[in-house]
Amino acid sequence: MPRLAVIGFPVGHSRSPAMHNAALAALGMDGEWSYEAVEVAPEGFEALVRGMPGEGFAGANVTVPHKLAALALADSASDMAREIGAANTLSFRDGGIEARNTDAPGLLASLPGSPRGQRVLVMGAGGAGLAAVWALGAAGAEVEIWNRTVARAQQVSVEVATRAQEFQVQIEVRAVEVAADHQPGAELRQAEYDLIVNTTTVGLHGEDPFLALPLERDRFGRDQVVVDMVYGAGPSQLLAAAADAGATTVDGLEILVQQGALSFEIWTGRKPPLDVMRAAARG
Ligand code: ATR
Repeated sequence: MPRLAVIGFPVGHSRSPAMHNAALAALGMDGEWSYEAVEVAPEGFEALVRGMPGEGFAGANVTVPHKLAALALADSASDMAREIGAANTLSFRDGGIEARNTDAPGLLASLPGSPRGQRVLVMGAGGAGLAAVWALGAAGAEVEIWNRTVARAQQVSVEVATRAQEFQVQIEVRAVEVAADHQPGAELRQAEYDLIVNTTTVGLHGEDPFLALPLERDRFGRDQVVVDMVYGAGPSQLLAAAADAGATTVDGLEILVQQGALSFEIWTGRKPPLDVMRAAARG
């Protein structure tokens, strides 16, 4: 009876158990496999994970705030996890712990096409911002990173450039310094980006994204792709405005589904049905 889990703090809101259990059921594997949510504070994370193989776990997803710790405790890690410096997927095999990152390929899989050669704006310089910059940059996009606190955007761009050299990956990234208050002369050329990705938490609590981010509601174009990692009950204000302009939109739940599907395949060796996972995630 292999067990799977998502480990977070908090984890009660996670859609992963519903999504993975629906996929297991759709493939007729639910008599054998199961997926649960496990909540643990940072100080208990390592001991919990080290005990999991002995309790029948085959693997786990790891979410906030444990993604760095997950990489640190692993016996081996994929290139992508090492390059990004974070892991969201652990596998317990032959007495060892393997770490991988499916967030980055999950983001790429949620896009309508390859970002190679595209001009990309990533907003936000937290862990999600760094992972998005890396994923898109390593896939051949020209990435600009914007953050409310400019110094953090600069830090991420320097960190990504340094790691790119260390791991011999070609990545083009630079920080953009534009105030969110749309001062004349300090505007961002919103229409010039092929892809715009919001990794900030703006919108999570109903804030107006057009006050907090350097974007204007009426400046999206139909050839653009707009990604908002924030997700709630309905489309975010950012995605609603982009959709009004005819742009292609991708929300955080789609990225969750894509990363989840990749993790599922790593653990079980089976490709899960995406439509079943999508329906369960949107629940
Ligand atoms: P994560 O690791 O999940 O990406 P984080 O490190 O908490 O999360 O980062 C949250 C991001 O949202 C940051 O880029 C933060 O900007 P600052 O670095 O300036 O704090 C951004 N953010 C949060 N609230 C914001 C707001 N009201 N306006 C603009 N950016 C905001």
